[in-house]
Amino acid sequence: MIEIDRDRCVKCHECVRDCAAEVLRPGPDGIPAVVPELEKYCMNCQHCLAVCPKGAVTCHGTTPDQCARPGRLPDPESMFHLIRQRRSIRRFRQAPVPSEVMEKLKDSLAWSPTGCNDHRLLFYVIEDPADMEFYRQETGRMLRLMIRSGIMRLVYPGYKRFLREIMNGKDVIFRSAPHMIAAATPKDAPCREADPWIALSYFDLFAQSFGLGTCWCGFGVHAFRWNRRLRRRLNLPSGYRVGAVLLFGEPEVHYPRATRPEPFPVRIGGNL
Ligand SMILES: Cc1cc2nc3c(=O)[nH]c(=O)nc-3n(C[C@H](O)[C@H](O)[C@H](O)COP(=O)(O)O)c2cc1C
Repeated sequence: MIEIDRDRCVKCHECVRDCAAEVLRPGPDGIPAVVPELEKYCMNCQHCLAVCPKGAVTCHGTTPDQCARPGRLPDPESMFHLIRQRRSIRRFRQAPVPSEVMEKLKDSLAWSPTGCNDHRLLFYVIEDPADMEFYRQETGRMLRLMIRSGIMRLVYPGYKRFLREIMNGKDVIFRSAPHMIAAATPKDAPCREADPWIALSYFDLFAQSFGLGTCWCGFGVHAFRWNRRLRRRLNLPSGYRVGAVLLFGEPEVHYPRATRPEPFPVRIGGNL
């Protein structure tokens, strides 16, 4: 439902031009309106609201006054420092992330882009050390069973040392992190594979901008897929699947320099 304030609208049609779903058209009087039979295609992306120079558009109940004005962006050099200095942190302090930082991190999740602006993503932030301990213990128990059964050696033939460490009770999966965040999507979401990774990539960089440490927990994704007790503890609705997991907390390690990774080939596309 898109409402246009007729007193504010200056008929510039920026909203019409910016509507990716093309549901807005100028009416006979020049004031844009949603074409009724196309309304169902509106993704509630709020571009019409954001682009309007006069604040004339209300989108699905969200008014222009509720939306932030543009703030100062990090300059490209700061962004590059962030990308270059972000490290996978595998040594964490056993201290909770301050609640004001935690709230900002959680608030930022709303701006994750998703395929077709599907807002059915679910995030689970594990804040309580007792909950982390449950995931750690249950995953360890499951993995030890799988290792004993021989399955793990078949699935991960190159990971012998890793499997030995799991058998010895070392937390090589959750890295003693005080917190983690899991992103889950409905199995019928248009971009169910991409959405969780993109959302947590944004979270990752934002968390590191606070000086926090983060680490992707690829194995955690498998653990949630394999183990119903882990899913139950999350209270994951049926039809949902955990798509990405990221560990985070205060780092116990400091890197006095960035790495210098081997560049990926970047080719100029085209049929030259
Ligand atoms: C999809 C994905 C899954 C990953 N899973 C794990 C993991 O399960 N455990 C871990 O310690 N690191 C994991 N990593 C971190 C990578 O090992 C790390 O990004 C890589 O070694 C480069 O190090 P850097 O992130 O410090 O630059 C994962 C990274 C990605 C992108």
